[in-house]
Amino acid sequence: MNIKNIQTTPFNDQRPGTSGLRKKVKTFQQPHYLENFVQATFDAQPALKGGILVLGGDGRFYNRTAIQIILRMAAANGIARTIVGQGGILSTPAASCIIRKYQTQGGIILSASHNPGGPDEDFGIKFNVDNGGPAPEKVTEAIFQRSTEIGSYKILEADDINLDRIGTSALGEMQVDVIDSVKDYADLMQHLFDFPAIHHLFNSGSFRMCFDAMHAVTGPYAREIIENMLGAEPGSVINAVPKEDFGGGHPDPNLAHAQEIVEMTHCLDPVDFAAASDGDGDRNMILGKNFFVTPSDSLAVLAANAHLIPAFPSGISGIARSMPTSQAADRVAEMLGIECYETPTGWKFFGNLLDSRKIAICGEESFGTGSDHVREKDGLWAVLFWLNLLAVKQQPVAQVLKSHWKIYGRNYYTRYDYEGVDKDAAEALMQHLRDRFGALPGQEFMGYTIEYADDFSYTDPIDGSLSSRQGIRIGFTDGSRIVYRLSGTGTVGATLRVYLERYEPDPEKQNQETAVVMAPLVQIAIDLAEIGARTGRSAPDVIT
Ligand code: G1P
Ligand code: ZN
Repeated sequence: MNIKNIQTTPFNDQRPGTSGLRKKVKTFQQPHYLENFVQATFDAQPALKGGILVLGGDGRFYNRTAIQIILRMAAANGIARTIVGQGGILSTPAASCIIRKYQTQGGIILSASHNPGGPDEDFGIKFNVDNGGPAPEKVTEAIFQRSTEIGSYKILEADDINLDRIGTSALGEMQVDVIDSVKDYADLMQHLFDFPAIHHLFNSGSFRMCFDAMHAVTGPYAREIIENMLGAEPGSVINAVPKEDFGGGHPDPNLAHAQEIVEMTHCLDPVDFAAASDGDGDRNMILGKNFFVTPSDSLAVLAANAHLIPAFPSGISGIARSMPTSQAADRVAEMLGIECYETPTGWKFFGNLLDSRKIAICGEESFGTGSDHVREKDGLWAVLFWLNLLAVKQQPVAQVLKSHWKIYGRNYYTRYDYEGVDKDAAEALMQHLRDRFGALPGQEFMGYTIEYADDFSYTDPIDGSLSSRQGIRIGFTDGSRIVYRLSGTGTVGATLRVYLERYEPDPEKQNQETAVVMAPLVQIAIDLAEIGARTGRSAPDVIT
């Protein structure tokens, strides 16, 4: 066995963001760049030595190359066994499922999620710990610290593993198992949902759906589950073959980037239900006939109806939402008499709450929903949950939402994203808002009175860790909110996100256009932060 010890010097930009380390492919292709980060991960996670590692990615450009490098480094670092998805493919939720099911010591997932892929686009790597969830901050910090002092890495000299053939082989002293990427995940879904009821929905009447895999990782999962197991009409899953560049698109399931299925719900002969997932399969967008379900509403509806699916026969213990997510879920929790936790942005903050069973369902406004079945958000899970509900309720999607709003009230919601903004200008904008905190409460703008202005900080109720500066909240006396945050996943400049929400309890006023209802708050948000003057932008790049 030929293990090489390669001399290297640290890179100073390997601190993981909201979801792992994301950079341009070209950055990862620099000599030693990927290797340094992987070695730092192995060094910071001594339990991997002699243990089992799960490895896979969303199939984007550089996925296969990176997997071969990581396999040889894993072998050189004493990992006993690595489980790899066939073709290097594992969706993020499937990786989480496999880490848990085989009681492994963690996993490396290669993905830049919804960011575009290709030689000039993005790549990413993240480490998930043994509960299947994203590494908590203390782990990512340890990896980062190690990356700043690294002097060498270990790698085995060996031929590539055949990633396309399922089976077991050896790499040095390490066992490599190439497994079916879909099977374990599909088995889990079958336990959580009423597959016969969904099968009946597809085969007993006129119900039609379309799932857009956006040329990304969920294609094989959705084909197997939705078409083969649940019996949806062949062709119900579109763009189902993962491509290295996602067909040139943004694999981001929102109204801006998943237009193909938006169109299919608005055309002359619309489908009853449509959904899409992102690059690595953890996000989802839900649409009905001529109807868009905001992710915040989706979370609230799933929580309110959880008792109707086999996974939660006696309901749920609690709910959590990320801070910028609308407060619709809070109203459900209140009525159910359970706790609703408000956490910082990023799935990693849900891990402790899920592990301690304080919550069973959680979600983010950024098209992320999930439960305690894995420790990642899960796009296809949300789609199956909705299908199960539709099968039980026998109502169109729009009707489900309208009935929900009647009971709980409606939280109108919209998000404005300003991408590629100058970093310093974005920081200055945030500081300008912070400087005004003291003066804002009590001030009135266009009929809205500010009740509080603060910078969100969170103390984890389980381990007591404190995360501060997690986004600026401006709350109004009628329950409306404006939230400002800088993205932690972008790779170019800064992305300013402005999240807006307004509560409407009156059923007579719950069917208005979101853009119309939100217009005054949008104006207040732009004026308060001086967005035009400070960023040079007259309009956002994306509105969701
Ligand atoms: C974004 C979303 C956040 C999500 C993350 C990973 O992070 O806003 O909710 O958890 O992607 O999918 P951001 O770019 O805002 O830091
Ligand atoms: Zn994702």
